[in-house]
Amino acid sequence: MLNPERFLADLHHLRSFGASGVGKGVVRPAYSDADVAARTWLAGRMRDAGLRVACDEMGNLFGLADGPSLLLGSHSDSQPEGGWLDGALGVISALEVARAAKESGGPPVSVVSFQDEEGRFGVTTGSAVWSGQLSLADADGLQDHSGMPLAEARGAMRHLVTGPVDSAQFRGFIEMHIEQGPALDTAGEQIGVVTDIVGIRDMNITFTGQQNHAGTTPMHLRQDAFQAVSAFNTTLNYRFRNVVTPQTVWTIGHISLHPNASSIVPGRAVFSMQWRDADQDRLARMEEIIRDTAQATAGDLGMQVSFGRLLGLDPVAMDSTLRGALEQAAGTVAPDRWRRMPSGALHDATNVSRLMPVAMLFVPSIGGISHAFEEDTAEVDLVAGLRVLDAAVRNSAGGTRG
Ligand code: GLV
Ligand code: MN
Ligand code: MN
Repeated sequence: MLNPERFLADLHHLRSFGASGVGKGVVRPAYSDADVAARTWLAGRMRDAGLRVACDEMGNLFGLADGPSLLLGSHSDSQPEGGWLDGALGVISALEVARAAKESGGPPVSVVSFQDEEGRFGVTTGSAVWSGQLSLADADGLQDHSGMPLAEARGAMRHLVTGPVDSAQFRGFIEMHIEQGPALDTAGEQIGVVTDIVGIRDMNITFTGQQNHAGTTPMHLRQDAFQAVSAFNTTLNYRFRNVVTPQTVWTIGHISLHPNASSIVPGRAVFSMQWRDADQDRLARMEEIIRDTAQATAGDLGMQVSFGRLLGLDPVAMDSTLRGALEQAAGTVAPDRWRRMPSGALHDATNVSRLMPVAMLFVPSIGGISHAFEEDTAEVDLVAGLRVLDAAVRNSAGGTRG
């Protein structure tokens, strides 16, 4: 029997790994001690639920049912400052639905916690490798912002690794997640059934000027890399205005100035440039504008610019059969309090859609806040989501593939 108390207890236990001390927030980036400890605990919970534990070289952790099954889950790593539900909700709800199905002779359900969804090293790195979007060799060449290579970081999960996990055993994938935006909370609704997930592009850009003395170097003789970033950002916002829609977003979220000292004109600035939209052509047009603007800015200021590797995922639509099962369940669990909606956040479901039918459901985020310690959702809404997920699994039993 589905057990909401057991589900909530596991969800709260998971946040004890990497608890930040601020509200319910967590600090559990991929392959950190807290992440590895959480995955080791999860493996035990999967085993207790009667699932066979498997873990691939990337550290994607699976609890496998016997025979063909539906796969449910998400990720249990967090942002450098993250909330307790982003990813965790999808993993623990999957665990509860799988456990209840085992207990009551329900349809076979497997569980997954993908590794590095939050992109310490790339973009949804673990599911990108599992789905074949990115080779393990290419992933191994990625580095985090401190220069740590993924090849080295993933050694922290060696004790759990069993080998490759074949995707052919799964009939489809459903990921439950918090919305991470304001739509459901503002409308007083309980469930969102996802129609599409937007696409994303992400690339590091480096401006190189001349490091120099901050007291003696006249302003007109400086090649200040921070000034280049600042000018680039202003020009870019202006040049985007006729290309973007109100749904398009772009972010410079990480910047590192070298050598990052008050009395030194910075000679180098490396920063992340990320942009997201539901239209692939618009993503490509934005890339052209970004490259062109950066080159023009460097030229104007007498500096060099270079571009890192372009990472990204294309927009994807959800599978109509699995989505229909979620809609039917939402209509029963939350009549008149659910809607269809696109996802502006990225999810492992995007990668998994290369392998099998996928669908997603959302529950509200209080105040629309996520990727922050304050992230939260009313427990009554978490349980409503759990019930929708469970009902959808039962609705689609026998379902979509194979
Ligand atoms: C995933 O967390 C994202 O950045 O959308
Ligand atoms: Mn997430
Ligand atoms: Mn996230």
